[in-house]
Amino acid sequence: NAAEKGGYEHFMLKEMHEQPKAVKDTLTPRIKNGDVVIEELGMTDEEIRAIRKIFIVACGSAYHTGVTSKYIFEKLARIPVEVDLASEFRYRDPILPENTLVVIVSQSGETADTLAALRLAKEKGVRTLGIVNVVGSSIAREADNVMYTWAGPEIAVATTKAYSTQLIAQYLLAMKFAKVRGTVSQNDFDAMIQSLERLPEQISLLLSHKENVQRFANRYLAAEHVFFIGRGIDYAISMEGSLKLKEISYIHSEAYAAGELKHGTISLIEDGRLVVAVLTQPELYKKTISNIQEVKTRGAFVMAVTTVGNTEVEKVADYVVYLPETNPIFANSLAIIPLQLFGYYVSIGRGLDVDKPRNLAKSVTVE
Ligand code: G6P
Repeated sequence: NAAEKGGYEHFMLKEMHEQPKAVKDTLTPRIKNGDVVIEELGMTDEEIRAIRKIFIVACGSAYHTGVTSKYIFEKLARIPVEVDLASEFRYRDPILPENTLVVIVSQSGETADTLAALRLAKEKGVRTLGIVNVVGSSIAREADNVMYTWAGPEIAVATTKAYSTQLIAQYLLAMKFAKVRGTVSQNDFDAMIQSLERLPEQISLLLSHKENVQRFANRYLAAEHVFFIGRGIDYAISMEGSLKLKEISYIHSEAYAAGELKHGTISLIEDGRLVVAVLTQPELYKKTISNIQEVKTRGAFVMAVTTVGNTEVEKVADYVVYLPETNPIFANSLAIIPLQLFGYYVSIGRGLDVDKPRNLAKSVTVE
């Protein structure tokens, strides 16, 4: 009913608007006197320094947060990270040497494959950490340690606020590891804390411009195929943007690493095809801009999501959404907002049940 939705038309819209608070609630208790403090991690500095490899294992959108944090972990803490879909990890006899940390990410804490992956890791005797939203859920109970995301209950099948808090938890974890291992300077670390603290207000700002995204979405209600492209973290963002669109709008969409376009997807570009390009990583701007040019020449219509100031993009894209300035490693938290809104508005514009898309379940407790 309307009261449950807090005056919003749908749970998804309500939950998107709860993101500034959810992000803040996940962040604030773990920042103390300019440092990252994760008591529930249950690891001494020595144990953190001894870790040689990290696996991040999850399903769906939670997996996409892992794809993002691989880039961040490796950059900040210089530890090799593998990201696995739980349904793949559990059946491939993964190599888990001593000093491996397995991070299990799950909103519900009940996803069958994710839970099985956790049990497998425990059986192999390596340390496990759950990043979980539902307090007391199976994964929360069984993992050696659990870091809760404080998103609150999420009702819409398509995750938004839980996804955003999973990112935050992993940023904090990577920063903690980097600090303890001495792979980040104090100046950079301080600047990261400042960037993190600004995210809630920046997310609010992006949400307050939702009508612009709606106007754009309304022009694409009849799209049949949409492609999302990006490099590095922008590729991870593209994966989630694409999943959001397809799961609630039933439009076929795919995410491609922009550099891979010429190995296949470019043959699907024709007049009027919508391509969403994500450019939040300054050192990759030029490369992705040339990919935009390649699809433009073949008739694509390009919506770009980039950071304020990157006006170069206007020369090649048809429609540009600007994000506030942040440390590029945290850009996913901002770039995902217009993409969530885009999926939402396309879905409702097509008259679909955005909170309960066909064939999907909020929590997949069967294999
Ligand atoms: C389902 C949901 C997704 C979610 C995935 C993993 O497919 O629709 O939104 O990302 O399960 O769920 P979990 O609860 O483990 O995060």
